[in-house]
Amino acid sequence: MGRIDRLIAGMTLSEKLGQLTMTAADYAVTGPIVTPVSENEIRSGAIGNLLNLYGAGPTQRIQKIAVEESRLHIPLLLGFDALHGQRTVFPIPLAEAGLFDPASWEATARAAAGECADDGLHMTFAPMLDVSRDPRWGRVAEGPGEDPFVGSAFARAKVRGFQSISLADVGAIAACAKHFVGYGAVTAGREYAATDMSEDMLREVYLPPFRAAVEAGVAAIMPAFTDLNGVPMTANTHLITDVLRKELGFDGVVISDYHAIAELLNHGVAADLAEAAALALKAGVDIDMMSDAYRLGLPVALERNLVAMADIDAAVYRVLALKERLDLFQDPYRRGRADTDPSAQSRALARAVGARALVLLKNEKNALPLAARKIALIGPLADAAGEMRGPWGGAGRPEDCVSVLQGLREAGLEVRHAPGVTIDGDDVSGVAAALDACANADAILLCLGEAALMSGEAASRAHLGLPGRQQELAKAVFEKAAGKPVIVVLFSGRPLAVPELVSGADAVLAAWFPGSEAGHAIADVLTGKVSPSGRTPVSWPRAVGQIPVFFGERPGGRPFNPKDHFTSHYSDVDNTPLFPFGHGLTYGDFELSNLRVEPGDPLTVKVDVANHGAREAEETVFLFLNQKKPGVTRPVLELKGFGKTSLAPSGRGTITLTLPQPAGRAELFVGPNAAFASLLSLPIG
Ligand code: NOJ
Repeated sequence: MGRIDRLIAGMTLSEKLGQLTMTAADYAVTGPIVTPVSENEIRSGAIGNLLNLYGAGPTQRIQKIAVEESRLHIPLLLGFDALHGQRTVFPIPLAEAGLFDPASWEATARAAAGECADDGLHMTFAPMLDVSRDPRWGRVAEGPGEDPFVGSAFARAKVRGFQSISLADVGAIAACAKHFVGYGAVTAGREYAATDMSEDMLREVYLPPFRAAVEAGVAAIMPAFTDLNGVPMTANTHLITDVLRKELGFDGVVISDYHAIAELLNHGVAADLAEAAALALKAGVDIDMMSDAYRLGLPVALERNLVAMADIDAAVYRVLALKERLDLFQDPYRRGRADTDPSAQSRALARAVGARALVLLKNEKNALPLAARKIALIGPLADAAGEMRGPWGGAGRPEDCVSVLQGLREAGLEVRHAPGVTIDGDDVSGVAAALDACANADAILLCLGEAALMSGEAASRAHLGLPGRQQELAKAVFEKAAGKPVIVVLFSGRPLAVPELVSGADAVLAAWFPGSEAGHAIADVLTGKVSPSGRTPVSWPRAVGQIPVFFGERPGGRPFNPKDHFTSHYSDVDNTPLFPFGHGLTYGDFELSNLRVEPGDPLTVKVDVANHGAREAEETVFLFLNQKKPGVTRPVLELKGFGKTSLAPSGRGTITLTLPQPAGRAELFVGPNAAFASLLSLPIG
């Protein structure tokens, strides 16, 4: 008998249920209920896993109780939401996705894992892999954007980054891919609402990133809070057991979301905690996060024969197997031996990735890079270091973040700062001072947008304009600018619908939330030290009424034709997004040419790239496919690849991508974004 079987054979029911329970400490508040950790319950084995506790001291202390004072000496598993960094905060995942660079995705996850391990953690509830085409939903900030191909590449890189080659490696932690599955399609973009979709949609759009995570060996998966086609994901036997475990071959741990098992009562599918617990366990959920449904409900469910001891044992087995893979039995204290400060290396990575992830949405009249040294720095996000962390800042401290004001001053610019208004307040009494500050400047920088907590969990918005009175401030500044360049640095966890802001500004830089090194990263791009190379991984709507607006639509029988009224269109807004998927300017001036395909399976697709600009920059190229299938409509564009190249002025290069030979008739498209006008095309097959 191996260690795990031996342990299970000797466990009481309470000890088994302890291993299936994860309770929150109060170092971070990520759900509705917070209770102080009960050391007695850890000692008695009634709690076997914790979330929201971190730091070398506290984690070692609590681990010592589990390992040295509990009857079976089973170490605790400690998890935390380090989505995009722990002490050092990297750009939010949506921003990072826009790098289209798996090596960087992996590098930031590896750095985050190292800091988590230093903080005594064994697991992060990341990567978040919910494809979403609805920016009303605040959680778009946490994920890879609108496309499943990107989501899949992101999943692979993040799992590799967090988990390293082996979970037993120093600095490796378990990844928990979430939220399985379809959460990004919540009704009307409203948080926690129901989802409904066809099997094809599920399999083509929402499932692929999870498949990729499983293939990459992800240790854990978290089901979504939501129900899908009428079955809550926390109780979805079909998707968790039949699809995830049997079809995709996932053999790791399934951890419920926060209080989600008890919420099966609110869904209306369980009459009491025993039924809720039985539904979740039978569906394949191993760990109950924060609802106590397993501890309170499973003993009753056993009596009622809703579950068998073998079901409980199978779940306990998977939890202990993960603890073994993490090498916790051998050395429970290896993670979190000493409190460390973020390393200079992580900070440098955050700065480099932060700068490259900025998306230059617009740049007219050579507004950027800045020629001027005397800057008026206006807006409520100019000196807002803490906001730079975004909605899931891990253990990043506000005082460790660099504001735009600090970054620009350190870059040697002469800055006069006036916020003008607050992020979402009604007070406009500061606008006059902001306009005054503009008077003596050579260029005006407007730092506008959302507060960090306006996106993320429980942060849906129905209006996607600038909050508060910021648009008024912007309008007043545009009117006052008198020919001086006005550059907007826009912070948000989602695409905003801000056509007026964009048309009034000379340049717009979408900063998302860049993390700890925000101010340095932004200064690097504004001053031209770094060329921006971020591309938006989600389409930006012109108006909320267009949502969902995304590039992977199917054509319909009456695609828009400006000469024919009876074709698909709005009477009051263009069909196209304000900025398409993949959009992002650089300080180079790129031309793509000579698209060609070399036969074989996979096909080899090549395109030449030339930089006619005066600065070195990185170009990103996307490969799309349009397939025609008898009897089934296909999206007008499906993303099949992306590649990058960095070119000096007058530099030339070739980007090579591969693509499985498509069946039947198809057309290839290659270009710098998903707008048809910018694409080169080639029929194949
Ligand atoms: C709820 C969120 O949905 C999930 O993403 C997170 O991991 C848990 N809370 C734990 O904080």
